[in-house]
Amino acid sequence: DAELAAAGAKVFKKCKACHQVGDGAKNRTGPILTGIVNGAAGAVDGFRYSKPLTKAAEGGLIWTEAELAAFLAKPKAYLKGTKMSFSGLKKETDQAAIIEYLRSFGS
Ligand code: HEM
Repeated sequence: DAELAAAGAKVFKKCKACHQVGDGAKNRTGPILTGIVNGAAGAVDGFRYSKPLTKAAEGGLIWTEAELAAFLAKPKAYLKGTKMSFSGLKKETDQAAIIEYLRSFGS
């Protein structure tokens, strides 16, 4: 829904220091997030993932809404040793909004 996606665009300000999404996006501290919703984990070309994320990807992790929400709530608890230095999105409304925003770039 468009309203939720618009709210997600605001929440994405917390991610922007490290991530880009959409046309012309480039890997920065974090990988490009275009097409990440329902996409395979650890699959962005040219990005050097941490060992735990690489292992999870080899294990077949798909970023479904549920997996993304769990990861974004508490990245370091969800994926021990991840190099994503982000404390997390505590509010479920923020998790839902960011997922809807990211979905608007394809899934
Ligand atoms: C990885 C989302 C904030 C740095 C990821 C992945 C997602 C994601 C979905 C996995 C990508 C994949 O499997 O290809 C987000 C969202 C954020 C956020 C939605 C804001 C709410 C940040 C911030 C930083 C960061 C602030 C930097 C301080 C990274 C890094 C990775 C990563 C380095 C790779 C992790 C690893 O290899 O273990 N992020 N992120 N992210 N993110 Fe973020």
